[in-house]
Amino acid sequence: MVSQQLKDHIKKARRVAVLTGAGVSAESGVPTFRGEHGLWKKFRPEELANFDAFMRNPELVWEWYQYRRSLIYDIEPNPGHFALAKMENAFDEFSLITQNIDGLHQKAGSQRVIELHGNIRRNKCATCGEFHEDEIPITQKKVIKCHCGGLIRPDVVWFGEMLPVDAIRNAFEWAESCDIFFSVGTSAIVHPAAQLPITAKQAGIYVVEVNPDKTPITAYVDEHLQGPSGEILPEIIKFLE
Ligand code: OAD
Repeated sequence: MVSQQLKDHIKKARRVAVLTGAGVSAESGVPTFRGEHGLWKKFRPEELANFDAFMRNPELVWEWYQYRRSLIYDIEPNPGHFALAKMENAFDEFSLITQNIDGLHQKAGSQRVIELHGNIRRNKCATCGEFHEDEIPITQKKVIKCHCGGLIRPDVVWFGEMLPVDAIRNAFEWAESCDIFFSVGTSAIVHPAAQLPITAKQAGIYVVEVNPDKTPITAYVDEHLQGPSGEILPEIIKFLE
């Protein structure tokens, strides 16, 4: 399944970057955003995942995020997450850039994770920005206030919001300077994350996509490993061990 060409690139690689999307968590039971069973089929994102919606109806948006937290609360990482955690130690330098907010990469043992879209397990004040990590229980029904009086919201990037500046800068630096770039389990349509594999390719880097389906970048990448990440990533790790 792992081509000789990829093996050769892996053997030579010193610096490796991986971009992940919702597909990596699909085998853990976390719904993806798009597609037949995607989350956005059931909810219209513009109604819930943006700042205006939160200010208009904070209780509704809070309740929706508490519901999503309850869905992922005791969910476990799958073999794809564990393979990525192992990859961190298999190369001299490694970076995992994720669009996922579920925290499963960290739960699987990955330590150097660049979170582009925040983390649903964390909260922050909508006014002063102070983080509120563990003190708010999953059972908290009503939105609560920070000591500054501002409303506490999930620390995730909503539609229309900027990505964390350091995270996105760091991600592009990796995309421009690694030896292999993997794009795993992402539909590669939400920018700026979707630009990362393209930037890597333009920089002359070997780009590999792992996805059961084709995406807008499939025709552009060097290799498309077609299948679920929970099967393909452990194959790559086997070869590294
Ligand atoms: P999507 O739901 O757009 O895409 C998930 C991708 O995973 C699809 O291309 C599927 O084919 C693929 N997939 C499904 N099962 C898989 C499996 N077992 N192994 C590997 N791949 C699989 O999710 P994202 O690309 O992550 O942003 O979406 C990007 C962003 O769109 C999200 O971070 C979110 C959303 O708007 C924000 O909320 C800011």
